[in-house]
Amino acid sequence: PGVRPLIAGNWKMNGTLRDAAALAEGVRAGLDRAPGADLLICPPFLHLHVAAASMGWKPVAIGGQDCSAEANGAHTGDVSAAMLADAGCGFVILGHSERRADHGETDAQVQAKAQAAIEAGLIPVVCVGETEAQRDAGEAEAVVAAQIAGSLPPDFAAAKGVVAYEPVWAIGTGRTPTEADISAMHNRMRAEVAARFPGLGETTRLLYGGSVKPSNAAAILALPNVDGALVGGASLKAEDFLAIAAAVP
Ligand code: G3H
Repeated sequence: PGVRPLIAGNWKMNGTLRDAAALAEGVRAGLDRAPGADLLICPPFLHLHVAAASMGWKPVAIGGQDCSAEANGAHTGDVSAAMLADAGCGFVILGHSERRADHGETDAQVQAKAQAAIEAGLIPVVCVGETEAQRDAGEAEAVVAAQIAGSLPPDFAAAKGVVAYEPVWAIGTGRTPTEADISAMHNRMRAEVAARFPGLGETTRLLYGGSVKPSNAAAILALPNVDGALVGGASLKAEDFLAIAAAVP
């Protein structure tokens, strides 16, 4: 209660400029199906502009999938938080497990990026989540608690930062944790964030991500302390993304 759910689409590294324009327009056109949620789409960097333009620059928030911790300068291939803000972004996904795996991003680096994002006026969506081996070893909650402690900068909650729980083994696999496991993790995350940011952490939005689709969205989004979803594969079809957003209770 009191927290407006956020349904975020992470398009990852998919599609063409033409696809991005069509997908963004499809989401915009179906917005009235999801009156109970804020929507966010996160296209690849090169597709941000065309996606925003296709939506008339307004009704759906747009975000990057990463940013540099540095403000500017000699960092070949990187994109700064200020560049994202200048391109119309209001959000940026940080510390996705694919960046942690593909680029070796550490909690400390994610924290520095989140701080840079906040300074540029962006809302960071910081991703956390355990591997299958860590869950099997009974370490899932401890891993996520440590990632929260290490990846969120001091201004995070005041800047309305968002945390996304994405168990690595549930991403793109069609497998999801049980509702009881999602609940237990989100309750633990709430406790961690509330303890770290007294008076603010209670309203920090906690998203679930990992094989969210129209058929399982309602059950997941109805769980206490689940304030939305971070959707990968299903966000590449406007119809599915909107169906997930419409499942917000
Ligand atoms: O950021 C989104 C997640 O990695 C989830 O991806 O919905 O394809 O499992 P998925």
